[in-house]
Amino acid sequence: MCGIVGVLGNHEVAPILVESLRRLEYRGYDSAGIATVNDAGQLHRRRAVGKLANLSDLLVHDSLPGKSGIGHTRWATHGAPTTDNAHPHRAGPVSVVHNGIIENFRELREELAAKGIKFVTETDTETVALLTQQHLRQGMDPRTAVEATLKRLEGAFALCFLFDGETDLMFAARKGSPLAIGHGDGEMFVGSDAIALAPMTDRITYLEEGDYAVITRAGAQIFDAAGAPVERAVKTVQMDAARIEKAGYKHFMAKEIAQQPTVVGEVLNDYVRGDKIVMDLGGIDFAKVERLSIVACGTAYYAGLTAKYWFEHYARLPVDIDVASEFRYREAPFAPGTLGVFVSQSGETADTLAALRYTKGKADKVLSLINVPESSIARESDVAVEIHAGIEVSVASTKAFTCQLATFAILALKAAHDRGQLDDASLAAHLADLRALPGLLSHALAIDTAVQGVARKLESARDVLFLGRGQMFPLALEGALKLKEISYIHAEGYASGELKHGPIALIDKDTPTVVMAPHDGLFDKTVSNMQEVMARGGRVILVSDVKAADKAAEGVWQTITMPDAPELIQPILYAVPAQLLAYHTAIAKGTDVDQPRNLAKSVTVE
Ligand code: G6P
Repeated sequence: MCGIVGVLGNHEVAPILVESLRRLEYRGYDSAGIATVNDAGQLHRRRAVGKLANLSDLLVHDSLPGKSGIGHTRWATHGAPTTDNAHPHRAGPVSVVHNGIIENFRELREELAAKGIKFVTETDTETVALLTQQHLRQGMDPRTAVEATLKRLEGAFALCFLFDGETDLMFAARKGSPLAIGHGDGEMFVGSDAIALAPMTDRITYLEEGDYAVITRAGAQIFDAAGAPVERAVKTVQMDAARIEKAGYKHFMAKEIAQQPTVVGEVLNDYVRGDKIVMDLGGIDFAKVERLSIVACGTAYYAGLTAKYWFEHYARLPVDIDVASEFRYREAPFAPGTLGVFVSQSGETADTLAALRYTKGKADKVLSLINVPESSIARESDVAVEIHAGIEVSVASTKAFTCQLATFAILALKAAHDRGQLDDASLAAHLADLRALPGLLSHALAIDTAVQGVARKLESARDVLFLGRGQMFPLALEGALKLKEISYIHAEGYASGELKHGPIALIDKDTPTVVMAPHDGLFDKTVSNMQEVMARGGRVILVSDVKAADKAAEGVWQTITMPDAPELIQPILYAVPAQLLAYHTAIAKGTDVDQPRNLAKSVTVE
């Protein structure tokens, strides 16, 4: 979602701001802008709708001098993606960029309107600039004005302020949305995350909830929500350029799909030693856990749904699973002995974070599966288990999904062992299966060319069904999600057994059905559902293994043949064809693979 940068530098800042915004492009946006204060102390801004290239073009013809500046990529919430609604917003001497939502903005707008103040945008952010301007008019200095404004704001947000007449002053505030301060040599920076600041500095201070900072080139003074000065650690973050470049791949998504054998290998290296699981769960004892409540959004939710099958099957541990946006308002009661489990790649998803806050104090403990250790979800959990996917840039999640699955598989086996459902020998056998995973994932990536052929046939479809049964059902949902996210083809995932309860009415020769069906205990049942599709003139794309392909290939339109694999790891392996099918279909259609329209990588508003 929205990206924020701020620079108090020693060089012309406009190109630096644009370059930093480019590093935040992965978050998703539909307009962009920058504001600078030039050496004479004058505040000016430039904004453009669409991609950053439009802003760069504008700056070529209409440059923006100055060594202090703020920048923003906007993902529209309040008001269409127009130039007027693009950030930075300005009210007289105040300019501000904002991520998140000011929830009481209507009330603030009415209050300002009653004073005769006019609005030029439809955004909630404009009220922040106007309120601050009002405070300045009352005689406050910039710092007191910002403090007075922050006290009035409700919601979840990150803000960065710049002032006309102030060439060495910037304010940053965090409530709900993360914000990082970067320390340079005689220069200071602000960014939505450390990636934005990577070329300038690796010395980062993360603001904590409610913090605000007064920043000059000499450094940052940080205050907590009560206004008391606080010390926040300066961390050196590993953010080498190679991790955030395409490294010869056409898209980040292709790179991230290809990285899966390596990153899943890192999960295994960290948590499996020989025949044992080594995972610090901060005193959580699965033998005493009576129930899991898993909550997440999007692809992370499908990882949790897969895990439900594993925890229930291997550990005999009942699992409730919810999408966070429903869970947070459902006021679910918790049975004694419930462990809350939250899954989030970014660690900042607003709904997941709110659901976690609801759960704290009600469930016995809160455990999260996270990819960003400094994230809000990681910090607010009792125990945060890292999934080791590394930075994921493409909006459509791929390697984070397989790493979430691998981490969940290990957790489920640990739970099974701790609860006496798996003896040492069976645990060792399952861990051996898991150790085969990186090799099998590499093997599975070899289907790339075959999938390209299938994708060319899928490209013209308007609707696609995905079917899966048992632990492959969540994979059907994930396959459909991936396809709609990046190719914009309407797709639905169904449990194979549900076919007859509605979706079969859609079957015709123009609605292909992708059947995710490795040779498992439920294979014959899924084949029957596949026959029902073909009997109605439906075209089937069967994704299955060598064992099953011969048995069920008759009448099938297209087959994608996967390596044979032990049952536990099949859902992890079958993520690859689901991802590649979406990827190559998107390429065939010419859509924007890494930054699909309307989507955001880190969904920090509800
Ligand atoms: C967005 C992303 C998805 C992601 C979901 C949950 O919709 O586009 O790829 O699965 O958010 O994000 P999280 O960071 O909480 O895993």
